[in-house]
Amino acid sequence: MHYAAITERLAHTGGAKWLIHQRCRTLKAAGADIIELTIGEPDQPPDPRLFEVCHQSMLAGRTGYSNGRGEPALLDAIAARYSRRRPGVDAGNVLCFPGTQTALFATMMGLTGPGDGVLVGDPFYATYDGVITASGAHRVSVQLRAENGFRLTADDLEAAITPQSRVLLLNSPHNPTGAVLSAAELEKIGHVCARHDLWIVADEVYEELVFDGNYASPFDNPDLAERVVAVSSISKSHAAPGFRSGWAVGPHQFCDKLLPLAETMLFGNQPFIADMTAFALTSNLPTAARMRDSYQRRAALFADTLGQLKGVVPYPPQAGMFIIADVSGTGLGGEEFAWQLLEAGVAVMPGSSFGDNAGKLIRLSLTVPDEAVVEACARIAKFVDSI
Ligand SMILES: Cc1ncc(COP(=O)(O)O)c(C=O)c1O
Repeated sequence: MHYAAITERLAHTGGAKWLIHQRCRTLKAAGADIIELTIGEPDQPPDPRLFEVCHQSMLAGRTGYSNGRGEPALLDAIAARYSRRRPGVDAGNVLCFPGTQTALFATMMGLTGPGDGVLVGDPFYATYDGVITASGAHRVSVQLRAENGFRLTADDLEAAITPQSRVLLLNSPHNPTGAVLSAAELEKIGHVCARHDLWIVADEVYEELVFDGNYASPFDNPDLAERVVAVSSISKSHAAPGFRSGWAVGPHQFCDKLLPLAETMLFGNQPFIADMTAFALTSNLPTAARMRDSYQRRAALFADTLGQLKGVVPYPPQAGMFIIADVSGTGLGGEEFAWQLLEAGVAVMPGSSFGDNAGKLIRLSLTVPDEAVVEACARIAKFVDSI
């Protein structure tokens, strides 16, 4: 039977990246003692008030169809949040989606097509290859350099731009490196994008998990208002990935143009999830601060121990739920290291799941209790000693 080209384009973007994680789950199900540091699943539950709001909303009959943009109260809550960052944002600047992932997919489908180039810092989040190539566009990697703290520079970006370039897919705070771009760095990047008439799609899902200092975003710069789309969700900020509740905030014209696509894909979101999300965004909940403290403390624990191991160089993150380390000094690539470490009772992601420029790296999740971090460090130390 005939299948559309999109199935071919996406055929190699999925499963293989998660093989170690899947193997880890299979081994654990069979009783193996493995510390799982693979995916970024928050280790604390959502605030119980979110369940309560959802429950009450369902009981109140909020279980019908919504509309393509999102429930009015949620659109207002998102607009209010973003207008504190850049005055003038209103509900017409917002589209709701089930998570950042869908928002990214729809945004890329709306902005790019066959032949278009999408610039992205490499390493990059594992699903970006699919997000970029689904529309027929191609990825143009911009190397993120260890010596620059894995932060994208305006010069490296500009050098990678071609006449086909349409979009910069920007992720700060960054997964997997935990790098956070400063306002000054973003200003320079913004100038480059304006000069070359590029969209900036800013994936800000880790916005609330910056350990120290302020968060900066290209969205906040009024000069870039016509070319920035910010996408985010409550997955990380409220430890609620399973609720699947996110959004895209961009120019009015962008939202109007994308609406038919959103309607075609979704036929609206769930009103009771929208009510809960509006509550989450307008309440002062302790979830993000708690996660920030835990992840910062665990990142320091990992950095201290891994930094003492021969051949291992950890890069402490500025934000997020992961830490990366270069393991090439052990004589093993990230992939070999990760597979062999699995035998030693610790599951981590190989850097190769995050781009062409990450083969020497492993990524460790910070979402296990401190005791498990300490035990994982001991196992990693023993394994490195044995190489
Ligand atoms: C950088 C980045 N973007 C997007 C996502 C997906 O987020 P959501 O749950 O909102 O779809 C993740 C999840 O890990 C992520 O790390």
